[in-house]
Amino acid sequence: MFWTLKAAKPQLSLATSADSIALAFAKDSAGVISFSGPETLIKDIEKYFEINLVDELSFFSPTGKAGELFEIPVSSQDAQTDRIFLVGIGDSSTAAFRVAATTIARKVRGKNTTVYSACAIDSKDVKAHAIALTLGAYLWSLKTGEPAGKPTFIVATNDKEVINVAITISKAITRARDLVHTPSNIKTPAWMATKAQEFAKGTGLTVKVLAGKDLKEFGGLSAVGNSSRKPGPRFIEVGYVPAKKKNAINALPHVVLVGKGITYDTGGINLKRPYDLMIPMKSDMTGAAVILATLTALEELQPNIRVTALMMCAENAFSGSAQRPSDVITHYGGTTVEVIDTDAEGRLVLADGLAYADINLDPDYLVDIATLTGAITLGLGKQYAGMYTRDEQLARDFETAGLESGDRVWHMPLIDDYKDALESDIADFNHLAKIAKYQAKSVTAALFLEHFVGNRRWVHLDIAGTARSESDAGENPKGGTGYGVRLLTQWIMNLK
Ligand code: BES
Ligand code: MN
Ligand code: ZN
Repeated sequence: MFWTLKAAKPQLSLATSADSIALAFAKDSAGVISFSGPETLIKDIEKYFEINLVDELSFFSPTGKAGELFEIPVSSQDAQTDRIFLVGIGDSSTAAFRVAATTIARKVRGKNTTVYSACAIDSKDVKAHAIALTLGAYLWSLKTGEPAGKPTFIVATNDKEVINVAITISKAITRARDLVHTPSNIKTPAWMATKAQEFAKGTGLTVKVLAGKDLKEFGGLSAVGNSSRKPGPRFIEVGYVPAKKKNAINALPHVVLVGKGITYDTGGINLKRPYDLMIPMKSDMTGAAVILATLTALEELQPNIRVTALMMCAENAFSGSAQRPSDVITHYGGTTVEVIDTDAEGRLVLADGLAYADINLDPDYLVDIATLTGAITLGLGKQYAGMYTRDEQLARDFETAGLESGDRVWHMPLIDDYKDALESDIADFNHLAKIAKYQAKSVTAALFLEHFVGNRRWVHLDIAGTARSESDAGENPKGGTGYGVRLLTQWIMNLK
């Protein structure tokens, strides 16, 4: 991890033992500046360094917008501190505390330095701010030579528990990002299984891996993953049960998470064109990475819920053993599907996972998460994931968890009029909407998945836009964002 996160009481002596102190300010409509952190501490800091923070700020004529940052050099005989970061928090919303955190974090990313942040007071702001500090400090590299330094973030709060939760979630997001950033020559489906086992080791999580002949019934996963014979696809089932309830699991609500784990997506025989579209496709296993990372967080948080993660891992390679457009495959549970475009591989591996969950796991909630369609990015951009469900209560719960956690979702429609696009003359379904006039590729992908969820309370999350950032800015590095870890963890913690 390229960061350390700690809690500390709001006390002058603790603040002045850090290399820098971060404080947040807001400017109201009348231009009056106020500070949002612990009042007494801020007064003590002013007295100790013999400065007036409002005067210092006025010199810069700040706008007060979230993330605006000024550095004030300070000195004192006994203090370690040599600078104060003053950061704007705009409208003082939880989201603004996140933005403020990322600008502070980006100032110290890769440096061996300590920052004492006394920006927030309210627990939910402290938590959001603390997590965002670690997100902005994230680095990933296979460069040889000097490794980068690691900043330590000390967050001022009397509520140590909030920071413990933030540490857990930050670690999980970092893990997910690391998996996504790993290039696909390293990251095979078998490697994903090794990672699941590594994360579960010494914890209460269980891991079951199916490969080779054991995948015979998984027609979609096999058809996609056998394009890459060595080492071939993997079905990875990770289980979480609260430690105190190991003998009473049937009494617990059961959440099953299904994640798309395409370790590289060339498009298969329907090769991606232009070829540049392929370069980001090492991220196509984000869904699987995110559900695995979420379980490692839950194992630490111990909610009274049973959660099973099904990581559907396969490479969609261009090869002699790749499936062909016009093949008919039999999914888990027996449904037959006529394959039209081998680049629509995500729904094929997810269909097996959803059917497996419905048939074997009796889920109370069935949630899939997948970098499924480029189309969702056209509609929603890269800040909102597409959420599909017919269950209004679930939609509201996910929207709430999205706003609370920072991983936002937008409720998209499952449009019945488009369903006939999935009819096939020779199989139960056509895997791609063949009637060009409907377009709506994210909607028809969701309609396809719906055929495999039985009567379960189901949510589909299309994260093709949110999984990856094309710029190194704010919370996100260029590359994997770990989108979904905060959302799923929050939603499950809200269920308990
Ligand atoms: N992995 C892609 C979707 C994707 C595209 C993710 C861009 C992230 C960024 C998926 O497997 C895919 O190829 N989808 C096709 C579906 C089409 C063939 C119906 C797409 O979106 O074009
Ligand atoms: Mn594809
Ligand atoms: Zn894909």
